Amino acid sequence: MKRIAILTSGGDAPGMNAAIRAAAKMAQYKGMEVYGVRRGYHGMLRDEIFPMDGRFISGIIDRGGTALLTARCPEFKDPKFRAIAAENLKRRGIEGIVVIGGDGSYRGADLLSKEHGFKVVGLPGTIDNDIIGTDFTIGFDTCLNTILDAISKLRDTATSHERTILVEVMGRRAGDLAVHACLAGGGDGLLIPELENPIEMLAYQIQERRNTGRLHDIVLVAEGVGNILDIEAELKKRVSTEVRSVVLGHVQRGGTPSGRDRVLATRLAAKAIEVLANDEGGVMIGIEDGQVVTHEISYAWEGTKKQDVIELYRMADILSR
Ligand code: ADP
Ligand code: F6P
Repeated sequence: MKRIAILTSGGDAPGMNAAIRAAAKMAQYKGMEVYGVRRGYHGMLRDEIFPMDGRFISGIIDRGGTALLTARCPEFKDPKFRAIAAENLKRRGIEGIVVIGGDGSYRGADLLSKEHGFKVVGLPGTIDNDIIGTDFTIGFDTCLNTILDAISKLRDTATSHERTILVEVMGRRAGDLAVHACLAGGGDGLLIPELENPIEMLAYQIQERRNTGRLHDIVLVAEGVGNILDIEAELKKRVSTEVRSVVLGHVQRGGTPSGRDRVLATRLAAKAIEVLANDEGGVMIGIEDGQVVTHEISYAWEGTKKQDVIELYRMADILSR
């Protein structure tokens, strides 16, 4: 394969730049020409495709966000628009595509491959850690550390005022960020969308903690559980503590990528290029039990997610009492 294109798509995640850099450098090392696509599929069908040289990737490894920019592009679900994108790629002789994003982005790439014959490889880039076929996604570790920093700060003020603070974290429909943040941040309560979350249980737990002299409660709430203000209102009816809610929001998506995310991104990107250099495609790259693995790209929506989040929840539940 002579020419490949790289794009980032869907929500950005710290470490995407390290993946872009590694993919570009490794491809050049293997004698391939590399193109960048700006603004994900949105830019692909508007012909925002450019030759990516060394200057573009220089100095991006430690920057959050994505130097290629990203976007959501609903039109890409329509084959008519995918044909326009395919034409833009073919005109430049591009045969292989590395897409860094979530399973929605993989679906777009898979359709482009089936309809127009490109070799595609998906790299898991999202803070949510919600992609089947990989234990961790690029951006999850950095995001987790951002949340932990916030928890430490919130605990200071929660203790001074003897308050209960509900901390809403991202994750879309997944509770991974909340569970890991609870375990690593010493959280005192946890609500995740994978399980029923009776508010009475949480209220009981808070009252019990206060009966044993604890001065604060930090409760991690995954955004997929529901509206935090409704949860706050329900909790307030059942506890005697003052309750506050904090939505961490998009601050979780930014920041200098952690070393772990940069290494993960680099390893996964190197594998993606190895696949394309062998004229193969139709796969996603992941990390499982510390090893870089490949799965059919459709595994991301047809496979079964490892339910280790439930096991970790049980641990967090015991430790939060
Ligand atoms: P993520 O990649 O993080 O899951 P999205 O679900 O928003 O994020 O998908 C990113 C982009 O991928 C969408 O804006 C769209 O351009 C493309 N995409 C998502 N789902 C499909 C689909 N079923 N068919 C074609 N393209 C899709
Ligand atoms: O998928 C990443 C993510 O940050 C989710 O955690 C969150 O639900 C969503 O994207 C937010 O999307 P937007 O940036 O469009 O508000």
